[in-house]
Amino acid sequence: MILVSDSDNAQVDAALDTQTPVPQTEAAATKASPTVEIAGIESVDRAAAILHDGGLVAFATETVYGLGADACNREALKRLYHVKKRPVAHPVIVHLAGAEDLPLWAEQVTPYAEKLAATFWPGPLTLVVKRAAHVLDEVTGGQDTVALRVPRHPLAQALLAAMRDGGDGQRPVGIAAPSANRFGKVSPTSAEHVRADLGGDVDLILDGGECEVGIESTIVDVSGDQPAILRPGRITAAQIEKALNIQLVIASDQSPAVPGSLPAHYAPRAKARLAKRVQIIEQLSTNRGRRIAVLGLEVSVPRLAAALTVVEPAVPASYAHSLYANLRSLDATGADLILIETPPDTPGWAGVMDRLKRATRID
Ligand code: TXA
Ligand code: MG
Repeated sequence: MILVSDSDNAQVDAALDTQTPVPQTEAAATKASPTVEIAGIESVDRAAAILHDGGLVAFATETVYGLGADACNREALKRLYHVKKRPVAHPVIVHLAGAEDLPLWAEQVTPYAEKLAATFWPGPLTLVVKRAAHVLDEVTGGQDTVALRVPRHPLAQALLAAMRDGGDGQRPVGIAAPSANRFGKVSPTSAEHVRADLGGDVDLILDGGECEVGIESTIVDVSGDQPAILRPGRITAAQIEKALNIQLVIASDQSPAVPGSLPAHYAPRAKARLAKRVQIIEQLSTNRGRRIAVLGLEVSVPRLAAALTVVEPAVPASYAHSLYANLRSLDATGADLILIETPPDTPGWAGVMDRLKRATRID
């Protein structure tokens, strides 16, 4: 990310200085949480023991940080929903140590599921399959399907391996983990984000650095006859079509089974809007005392009279990597309005556009 300006127009600064103080941001308000420990990969055995004992461990994955609980422990799952402030009927993803565990969680491994698992696991792909009989309602939201993913981040893999090693060898091992943010808020892509959001509500945070992908996994429903993308992400529709040699159905935004699909998801505190570059420049020049922050594309955005301007390259993977951290930084300026330059309307941007549309939803 490039910070182009931080209030670099003296006149606008002066005007802003005379405004009433902005309210403290949510991130700042919850930042101080001395109780929660952040540890590294050397602590995975302890983290696995915490999970086996019914505790909650936040951990890095390549997409976003997850808030983990033992997927076979009802009490731990109840606490997970409570901390997440998530409505109970909303299912969570179960993270597995390897594709070889798929038959332990799926009623049957269909050819589509097998092909996608073989092609993209470990990696940022979640498969929705018909669930095996033992899978708890607390995981599936009472549905007959379960969402499964094998993450590729070394820390997530080490944690899952340690959990498997520390298990009784009888029960299947899985970590149920939604993104480690409160329901409806921007997902965390660093251990510090998790601490700011959840503080002492989690027993341990395993720090694996900044998440590489930066947006949540692509979700493909392979539980029916026709595979369907429920949530776009780094792995694109074209990649899935190529792997399966078929044409995909893109699910409508209204799919109730995926809370990430609720329009208001991924919202920063400030009002956020998508806008073209000319509109951004116009808004800033006609700004009537509002505090505006800008997320621009490429470096050609001129030095703007904004509270904060962040510029990203027009490359979907890099843009996605920093998206949530950028939304948090822009929000933390106390801006009333975040203007986000609309990315190109091409398939490679589908995952990013999905998150931006939700972050900028007008009620
Ligand atoms: O990248 C990710 O997927 C991250 C990391 C931590 O793995 N996890 C994540 O979890 O984004 P969460 O809970 O924030 O979003 C999971 C999505 C939800 O939208 C949920 O509704 C959907 O997966 N989901 C879970 N089980 C499902 C099921 N059985 N059928 C349809 N959708 C399901
Ligand atoms: Mg989430």
